[in-house]
Amino acid sequence: MSEKEYWKTKWDKREIEEANDFARRSFSQIKDKNFKTLLDLGCGDGRDSLFFASEGLNVTSIDFSESGIKKLNELIKEKGLKINAIQTDIRKINFPDNSFDVIYAHLSLHYFDDEITTQIFDKLSRILKKDGLIFIKCKSVEDALYGKGEKVGKDMYKKGHIRHFFSEEYMREKLRNFKILEVRKTSSVYHQYESNFIEAVGTKT
Ligand SMILES: C[S@@+](CC[C@H](N)C(=O)[O-])C[C@H]1O[C@@H](n2cnc3c(N)ncnc32)[C@H](O)[C@@H]1O
Repeated sequence: MSEKEYWKTKWDKREIEEANDFARRSFSQIKDKNFKTLLDLGCGDGRDSLFFASEGLNVTSIDFSESGIKKLNELIKEKGLKINAIQTDIRKINFPDNSFDVIYAHLSLHYFDDEITTQIFDKLSRILKKDGLIFIKCKSVEDALYGKGEKVGKDMYKKGHIRHFFSEEYMREKLRNFKILEVRKTSSVYHQYESNFIEAVGTKT
């Protein structure tokens, strides 16, 4: 099964959940700035997009999952929020330079090999506005799922779907075109399991 196929129907039956804690913590760092536009990469059914839009941001949400974007579009209609939900592949995004004040990616940039990951991060540095902020959270090499399933690349394993586990050093390396404000390890319960993550905040100078 392809990765796109795996995610295609993933959001069909799920009840929409509350915004992720990472979204709330990210928002606390942007709420006092005069930011207007936010790109939510790999938004799923848009739980965090809905939160950011309800706080007044003009949100663009990207995901290649048919069920995720369909559900988000239904919720946008229902709630009358300002969200542009686009069903597309993160690898294919093509916004003009300096398009967004904020780029947000919650567990959506840890699916690609090193070459593609580098390309995506470099593209993000182009489309973020000067003085904008980028918030990224990925599974860490210290996560319990690391090493489980079929090894498909360096720090990459396929168990159900592919995950590319990040170290702090790797996150820093990928953010080479940003000014790094913070990279840190976090842990929390995710889908009922204690999980380990790398979180990063960067800006463009
Ligand atoms: C773990 S979920 C996170 C969803 C959402 N950010 C959240 O936290 O609720 C990962 C999401 O990334 C999306 N995704 C994975 N690879 C993608 C790709 N190449 N292009 C677009 N979306 C992708 C999946 O469809 C899925 O919705």
